[in-house]
Amino acid sequence: MAEPKFAPSILSADFARLGDAVKAAEQAGADWVHVDVMDGHFVPNLTFGPKMVADLHKATRLPLDVHLMIERPEDWIDRYADAGATYLTIHVEASRDVPATLAAIRAHGVRPGITLNPETAVDAVLPHLGAVDLALVMSVRPGFGGQQFIESALDKVRAIRAALDQRRLNAELEVDGGIKSENARRVAAAGASVLVAGSAIYEDPDGPIAALAKFKRALRA
Ligand code: DX5
Ligand code: ZN
Repeated sequence: MAEPKFAPSILSADFARLGDAVKAAEQAGADWVHVDVMDGHFVPNLTFGPKMVADLHKATRLPLDVHLMIERPEDWIDRYADAGATYLTIHVEASRDVPATLAAIRAHGVRPGITLNPETAVDAVLPHLGAVDLALVMSVRPGFGGQQFIESALDKVRAIRAALDQRRLNAELEVDGGIKSENARRVAAAGASVLVAGSAIYEDPDGPIAALAKFKRALRA
């Protein structure tokens, strides 16, 4: 089992101190910063727009892993690309034309990602694996941090890992939602190459740097 990358989700950080949150992620040895963009329509919560991504891009050297929980993501690709997103991940449920949207992301020089809600069958994303640099399995219903990990997500992780390996594709396989140091090892063992964690990093009473160290210890144990 290769050690997965870590992408702390700033959804659980103090929004009035996001610069400090990304600096802490850097110091903790995080690989990416996960940015949850929510529009109040695709999910019942509202977070950041392109300006926040542009400002984060100025504040950190870490890649920005932008998770678009928005309807019609195709209308927003140019703005998030200009803002400095490294990855732009769209929901398969949200786009009218998934192949065209993924192609537009790549044409803007950004790495395309595809994701699916817990209720959506894994078959919905398999046809798109050849067009993406990242497949994201949601292990909670998108919208809020701090929810319980949905165990059936592990079957999706295994199915996507098998499909990637069989087709010799080297897209990243990321898992998002309810990941703690207690279950990280199982998620990585199922085939994940990137783990997102929000509340487990930014709500740990010992702070984000100690929290990420706990994850790394748990994975090596
Ligand atoms: C949920 C977001 C997640 C969220 C994860 O809609 O996509 O990225 O921040 O938070 P935790 O790790 O607390 O489940
Ligand atoms: Zn997310």
